[in-house]
Amino acid sequence: MLGTLLRLALWLVAGLVVLMGATMLVFLVPHSLFWRSREETFVGPDPTRRALIVYQPGLSAQPRTVALSLAQGLNDAGYTVTVDRPGRHLPTDLTPFGVVAFGSPVYAGQTSPALRRYMASVRTWGDQAIILFTVGADPHNDDADRLASLVPAERVVRRVKFLFPADNRADARSLGKAVGTGDGGH
Ligand SMILES: Cc1cc2nc3c(=O)[nH]c(=O)nc-3n(C[C@H](O)[C@H](O)[C@H](O)COP(=O)(O)O)c2cc1C
Repeated sequence: MLGTLLRLALWLVAGLVVLMGATMLVFLVPHSLFWRSREETFVGPDPTRRALIVYQPGLSAQPRTVALSLAQGLNDAGYTVTVDRPGRHLPTDLTPFGVVAFGSPVYAGQTSPALRRYMASVRTWGDQAIILFTVGADPHNDDADRLASLVPAERVVRRVKFLFPADNRADARSLGKAVGTGDGGH
C-alpha cells in the first residue's frame, strides 16, 4: 500500500516537473527566436527626425501595446517612428535615429535573448536618447540590467518597467512625448 502511494507521488512529481518544463518552453522559445519584420510606421512632419522602437512581443498584447503607445508619444513630439520586432532585417547603424527604444517582456527574471542578440549586433550608435523598457508583474525589479549592458550607458535617458496587467498606454505615450520633446533628460 505504502509502495503504491510512493509510486503515485513520484509519478505526480514527475508529471508536474514535465508540465512546468513544457510551460517554460512555451514562454522561453518565442522569447529567444528572431522574428520576421512587422514594421509599423508613424509618420511625423519632419522626416529627418527619426525614432526606432524594437520590442519583443509577449504572449499577450502588453509589450506591443506599450511599444505602440510609446511610438504615439514620440510621434506627438514630431518624430517619424519605426516600430518593429528584433531580427536580421533591422539596421545595425543607428546613427539616423534621434531616439531609440528597446523593450521586452520579462519571464523568469530574463529579458528576451532575441532582443539582446539584436542589440549586441549594433555596430554604430549615434548620439541618440535611448529608452529601455520592460513589461512584467514584479514591481521590485526592472530586470533591465542585461539590456543596459548592451547600450552606451551615457545615452540612456529612461529605464522603465511597465507593470502587467495594468493599462500602461497613457504612461507609455507620455514617456514618448517627454523624451521626444527633450524633457526626457537628453
Ligand atoms: C512563465 C512566466 C514567468 C514570468 N516571470 C516573470 C518575472 O520573473 N518577472 C516579472 O516581472 N514578470 C514575470 N512574468 C510576468 C510577465 O512578464 C508578464 O505577463 C508580461 O506581461 C509578459 O508579457 P505577456 O503578458 O505578453 O506574456 C512571468 C510570466 C510568466 C507567464
